[in-house]
Amino acid sequence: MFSVEQTHSSMQRLFKLKLRQLLIVGMVVTGLVSLALFVKSNFGDTQQTATQRQDCKSWKTTSQHKSTLISKTACVRNYFLLIVVSSAPAHFERRNLIRQTWGTDRDVVAQWKTFFLLGQTRNQTQSESSLLKKENNIYGDIIRADYYEHYWNQSLKIEMGFEWAARYCTFSFLLKSDDDVFVNTKDLIHRLQRAPKKGLYMGKRHKNPEVRRYGKFRVSYDEFSGSTYPNFCSGAGFVLSYDVVECLVPFFDVINPFRLDDVYVGILANKAGVSPVHHSRFVYPDVNYEHCLFVPNTLVQHRAVGQCLTRLFEMHSKDLYSYNLGSYF
Ligand SMILES: *[C@@H]1O[C@H](CO)[C@@H](O)[C@H](O)[C@H]1NC(C)=O
Ligand SMILES: *[C@@H]1O[C@H](CO)[C@@H](O)[C@H](O)[C@H]1NC(C)=O
Repeated sequence: MFSVEQTHSSMQRLFKLKLRQLLIVGMVVTGLVSLALFVKSNFGDTQQTATQRQDCKSWKTTSQHKSTLISKTACVRNYFLLIVVSSAPAHFERRNLIRQTWGTDRDVVAQWKTFFLLGQTRNQTQSESSLLKKENNIYGDIIRADYYEHYWNQSLKIEMGFEWAARYCTFSFLLKSDDDVFVNTKDLIHRLQRAPKKGLYMGKRHKNPEVRRYGKFRVSYDEFSGSTYPNFCSGAGFVLSYDVVECLVPFFDVINPFRLDDVYVGILANKAGVSPVHHSRFVYPDVNYEHCLFVPNTLVQHRAVGQCLTRLFEMHSKDLYSYNLGSYF
C-alpha cells in the first residue's frame, strides 16, 4: 500500500516534470515563430531598401552597354559628388561658363567633378565635330552617346548618364542637372554631408503628379494610361545616392524610355522601391526668367544662363548671403 502510494506520487512528479518541459518547449517555439513573423513584417519586402531587394550589380558583369552610351572614360578617383549635366553638342558657351563658374572644384584634391552628357546631332558640321574633339581633349569632361538629340529624347540621356556614372565611376552622390541651371556646389556639398548615404532621391518633389492630357507636356493614353505618375523630382536638378543609380540601371530593360525624362526617373525609382524626398532649396521659380531672381541659400536653381549665371555665382560665393547651414533640409 505504502509502496503503491509512493510509486503513484513519484509518477505524478514525473508527469509534472514532463508537463513543465513541454510548456517550456512550447513557449520557446511560440517565441521563435512570433519573432520570425515580427522580423518578416518589419524588415520584409515592404521596407527593404532597393539595394537589398534586388541584385543591383550583376548588370556590370557584361561589358556591353545597356544604353546608347559610347564613352568609356573612367573617373580618375572616387568623388563625394559627381555632377552630370545634360547638354547638347552646340552648347559650347554654356559648358564653358559652367566650367568657369560653379562647375569646377578648385581644391588641390578634387572632392567633386562635373561632366557633360551629349548625344548626336543629325547635321553636325565638320567644324563642330572638330571643336568638340578639341574641347574634350582639353577638359576630358564630355560623355557621348549615339542617339539623336531631341527635346523628347532626354530619357536616353538619363539612361546613358546613369549607366556611365554607375559603371565607370565611384561616388557618394550624383547630381543630375542641366546646362541652363545654377548649382550652389559649395552649399550643396555641405548639406549632402548630413544626408542619408543610401536610398537617396532628393530634389523638388512632385507629389501625386497629374498626367496632363493637354498643353506642352500632354501625354497620350497609349504612352501612359494612369491618371497620376509616381512621385518624381524636377529634372533640372536632383540628387541620387550611388546605390540608387546602380539599382535603376537594370530597369532600363523593363521600362521603356518615357518622353518626359524627370517622370521617367520617378517611374524607375518607383520600380526600385525608392521614394523621392523633397528639399526646399531646389528652386525652380515659376516667373519671368529675365529677372534673374536671387534666392538666398538656394542649392539648385533653374533657369540661369549667361550674365545671370555669372551674377548668381558671384552673389552666392559671398558668404554674406548665406544663412546658418545647421540642418540638412
Ligand atoms: C539637315 O540637313 C538636311 C539636308 O542637308 C536639311 O534638309 C535639313 O533641313 C537639315 N536640318 C537641320 C536641323 O539643320
Ligand atoms: C531619338 O533618338 C533616336 C535614336 O537615335 C532616333 O531614332 C529618334 O529619331 C530620336 N527622336 C527624335 C524625336 O528625334
